[in-house]
Amino acid sequence: MPARKRAALERIPAHHAALLNDHAAFTQSLDAVDAGITANDQFFRAVLKADPAMLAGYLARMRRMGLATAPEPQPADVDKAVSTLKQVARDWSAEGASERAKCYQPMIDALEREFANVEERSSRRVLIPGAGLGRLVWEAARLGFASEGNEFSFHMLLVSNYLLNGITRPEQHTLYPYVHTFSNSLNFTTDQVRPVAVPDVLPSSLPDGSDMSMAAGDFVEVYSSPTYTDAFDSVLTCFFLDTAHNIVEYLEILHRIVRSGGVWINNGPLLFHWEDAADPRELSIEVDWTGLRKLIEVVGFEIEREEWIETTYAANRQSMLQYVYRCVFFVARRKP
Ligand SMILES: C[S@@+](CC[C@H](N)C(=O)[O-])C[C@H]1O[C@@H](n2cnc3c(N)ncnc32)[C@H](O)[C@@H]1O
Repeated sequence: MPARKRAALERIPAHHAALLNDHAAFTQSLDAVDAGITANDQFFRAVLKADPAMLAGYLARMRRMGLATAPEPQPADVDKAVSTLKQVARDWSAEGASERAKCYQPMIDALEREFANVEERSSRRVLIPGAGLGRLVWEAARLGFASEGNEFSFHMLLVSNYLLNGITRPEQHTLYPYVHTFSNSLNFTTDQVRPVAVPDVLPSSLPDGSDMSMAAGDFVEVYSSPTYTDAFDSVLTCFFLDTAHNIVEYLEILHRIVRSGGVWINNGPLLFHWEDAADPRELSIEVDWTGLRKLIEVVGFEIEREEWIETTYAANRQSMLQYVYRCVFFVARRKP
């Protein structure tokens, strides 16, 4: 990317390039972007080195396909790597604290209020599907709950595995999660190439006896199993419901796995992930909140609280562009 920008600078008149460099620090910014990309690369190398077993399946598949080296990354792969970096900042940096206060804190508060007796929490099972990099799972475990995350993205699983099990000290890495966006920058140095130290806390600092786990796999496949019937006292879904292909299937599973009288706490928008899927066989059914609200009650939950929360998602707080979601936060209880 910086190479493309340097080439563009070569193509404009020399005195324009000189003005850009003298007054808008253009080439210096590109040098800083290069350094940021190198630091991000070091982080990903640490992720891959930490647990070679996690890559073994991928490498074996490559060999079966007769490939000696990994295929060239496609733009979609690069997008995933970039969004994973931003997700690290959201979940595991001081930078993400304000977003976590909007997204996770109301859910944690509702969970704590529901299970106020701290002594009993270790026997309370909480599930967080679409757990991303696991911060909410970790927060629930820290509060004493038996906390289980579920995630199907290999990118998320690789990175959360490293963050949760491989990190030895807070702020061990310096990342540059916003380095790839050249537009809407107020100041390249303080916005685009701003360093973000991760993690803000030591993930392995959970109290002794904490119970935290991560189930890898598709939510529908994993939790359709009868072993999960009535398994959870609470399920927390944060920016997850709209990942459904078939939202009614999600609702049925949620209803089956939350025990009678248990609570489902949600916070998120309805940005249906599969709406624009290129493959017509990718099923996507979008519903509005009005319809979804009725469906939630029809499958067997009673919505006890409903509020609206405005928040960004994995955003660069300094950018001149901010997408703000109006999230529906609710607490729903499974009817007896
Ligand atoms: C928008 S992100 C939200 C992550 C996290 N809850 C947060 O608030 O930062 C949605 C997450 O759900 C995961 N996901 C999507 N569909 C899933 C499925 N069917 N089973 C498990 N995880 C899924 C994605 O990989 C992604 O990490």
